[in-house]
Parts: sequence; structure tokens; C-alpha cells
Amino acid sequence: MSTFEIVKRYTEEDKNSNLSCGGNIQYLELKEGERALDLGCGRGGETVEAAKQVGSQGFVWGLDLTPRMIDLAQERSRNEQILNVKFILGSMDQIPLKDNSLDAVLSNCAINHVEDKLAVYREMYRVLKPGGRFVVSDIMTETPLPQEIKEDPEAVADCFGGAITIREYEESLSQAGFFKVEVFKERRYLKNGYEMISRTFQGYKES
Ligand SMILES: C[S@@+](CC[C@H](N)C(=O)[O-])C[C@H]1O[C@@H](n2cnc3c(N)ncnc32)[C@H](O)[C@@H]1O
Repeated sequence: MSTFEIVKRYTEEDKNSNLSCGGNIQYLELKEGERALDLGCGRGGETVEAAKQVGSQGFVWGLDLTPRMIDLAQERSRNEQILNVKFILGSMDQIPLKDNSLDAVLSNCAINHVEDKLAVYREMYRVLKPGGRFVVSDIMTETPLPQEIKEDPEAVADCFGGAITIREYEESLSQAGFFKVEVFKERRYLKNGYEMISRTFQGYKES
């Protein structure tokens, strides 16, 4: 799947538009001194909030595919004088961080853009320390979307064409090794006539 449409969409997005599926950082319950990562951090609102929560002894990385999003996130952290944060340009199926190095991973409405969700969750598992946790908000469906929607780059960039079924999603989580998966909230809505599900959930890497 080409990333061109995704980068185009987020480069052209209005500076003040709402990009998230609803905040989820409160479910992560970050503690002072922890090290965390925000995958598909966008303009960095929750990344900066996470950096405040972990305090000066902790550190937070924000990773995003779109240079414009990274620029805006860096501008935000500079304006707020937050020093314990770093924004990295890259793709979440190849996270440029060390194995077993993070306490927590956060992602809000971003993983649906990546075709290979299992690759993303494997990467997440690799970078988390034993006992580490994630909280993700993402889009999925009850029944598979038509193939032509899945293959439509604009639909993928528009946060629905890349959605897989709940069953496929849960298989990816368990194949990656996560356990104690718990759903915090769920919202169902119609997008272009398709029934979509926005879920916020957590999972753990075994200790
Ligand atoms: C809907 S926005 C959400 C942004 C932010 N998490 C929020 O809640 O405001 C999705 C973000 O995911 C990023 N993204 C899409 N594909 C990505 C990938 N393969 N790796 C990293 N980021 C990606 C986009 O550039 C965009 O900033």
C-alpha cells in the first residue's frame, strides 16, 4: 500500500482539525520516570501530555510518517518548553528504538493506516520491556470491507479503508504475543455507508 495518499492527507490537513478517535492517554496511567512512545503521534498533543506525566526523569518519543506532523509536534514541544520528548520521522512497522526499552506505548487512530497490523504489533512488542503495556484507539469492522475499499488509497488515508475485522485484529494482537487484552470503550458509526467500530483497548507483554 502506497503511503503517498496518507502523507498527502496529513500534510494538507488544517492545522486545527481534530485527528484523534478521542483521547486515550488517561488509560495508560503513566508514572513519573517511565519511558513511552506515541505511534502516529500527529501534531503531538498526547505525546507532550505524556512527557508532562512522566516528568523530567522520564522520556517520551513521538513517531510519525508525515514530516508536516513532526514539524508541528516539534513546534508544540518548543512552545511548551517540554524537553523530555523527541519526535521521530518514520513508519511504525519499523520502530527505530531498542528492544525492551519502553514501559508503555500509546497510539490514537493511526495503526489502521498500516496494511500489516501484525508487523506493527510485533514491533510494539519488541520495544516494550517485559511487563510493558500499550493503550491503543483504532478503527475496525465487524465484517470485512469490500476489497475495492481496502485497495483505495484515499479510503485508507481517510481512516476507514485500512480497517480490518475485530477477529483479524484480535488474532494480530495474540500472534504478536500480547495478553490481558481489555477493551475500555467502543463506538459504532457509519462512514461512507460502512459500519465502523472505534475501540480503545490495552494489552500487556508478559513479565
Ligand atoms: C488520524 S491521525 C492521529 C494523530 C494523533 N495520534 C492524534 O490522535 O491526534 C493519524 C496519524 O498517523 C500517522 N501515520 C500514518 N501511517 C503511519 C505509519 N506507517 N507510521 C507512523 N505514522 C503514521 C499520520 O501521519 C497521522 O499523523
